[in-house]
Amino acid sequence: MAAVENGSEKRELAGKRALVTGGSRGIGAGIVRHLLDAGAEVLTTARSAPGDLPGKVHFVEADLRTPEGIDTIAASAREVLGGVDILVSSAGGARARDGATDTTEEVWQDTLNLNFFAAVRLDRHFIPEMRERGSGAIVHVASAATTLPDRYFLHYTAAKAALDNYSVGLSRDLAPAGIRVNRVSPGRTATPGGEAAREEWAQMFGYVSNAVGAPPLGRDGTPDDIAEAVLFLVSDRANWISGANIFVDGGEFPRV
Ligand SMILES: NC(=O)c1ccc[n+]([C@@H]2O[C@H](COP(=O)([O-])OP(=O)(O)OC[C@H]3O[C@@H](n4cnc5c(N)ncnc54)[C@H](OP(=O)(O)O)[C@@H]3O)[C@@H](O)[C@H]2O)c1
Repeated sequence: MAAVENGSEKRELAGKRALVTGGSRGIGAGIVRHLLDAGAEVLTTARSAPGDLPGKVHFVEADLRTPEGIDTIAASAREVLGGVDILVSSAGGARARDGATDTTEEVWQDTLNLNFFAAVRLDRHFIPEMRERGSGAIVHVASAATTLPDRYFLHYTAAKAALDNYSVGLSRDLAPAGIRVNRVSPGRTATPGGEAAREEWAQMFGYVSNAVGAPPLGRDGTPDDIAEAVLFLVSDRANWISGANIFVDGGEFPRV
């Protein structure tokens, strides 16, 4: 959203520095596009750079599952952006497993590292400078699947549930410092990772994936649907919102 200031248009994130994880495809790429369009300077990350990154985005290659990968990203954000006003942890996902006994120690560790500890570790890097400035906006991309965990993704929904709990506590910790912490919980969203996970799930479950009906609003989500909610939460339009979780799921997971 653009405001008119002194006769010229000012984009709402102009002057803001944003770090977005997982921006090489899917939801993260949608978030990157939305933040760039809103005027932010954006650094994004993945394990490898895709060929079709928007020209204006900065990119750093690192594995989010390790503390060393997180350190690489944090150092790059300081060097390239000079600091971070907006921190969006979007990278995540998991491979389906056939219930608890098929979920090895290594799979548990990997899934927790990517879907939970990566956000914790990145937040720990940038909270001190946000505290000093007395402002900051953090968004964790969680999952609507936490409301109905199933046996094929126990490791994933448990990791995202840990992220939920941590996010609420963190929002209460940081609110007095002027830092807002919110979540966006996608439902079924058409992305490479989402489609692959649902295909695996369908095969294990003995379904073909297109036999699973559409969400009540009649279609799967798009990365832009999710990115709209993230953009709102990091903008000043949401400056009295912290600890919230916006479900962007086509109405599939009703909550009272
Ligand atoms: N799509 C859905 O239906 C859905 C539903 C609920 C929640 N979500 C959540 O939404 C977020 C985005 O999902 P998506 O569907 O857009 O996933 P996606 O299409 O698989 O994209 C994931 C992104 O994260 C990066 N990434 C994955 N593993 C990484 C690692 N170890 N280190 C660094 N980067 C890594 C990927 O790049 P590289 O592979 O090159 O590293 C890619 O940029 C995730 O947190 C997911 O859990 C998605």
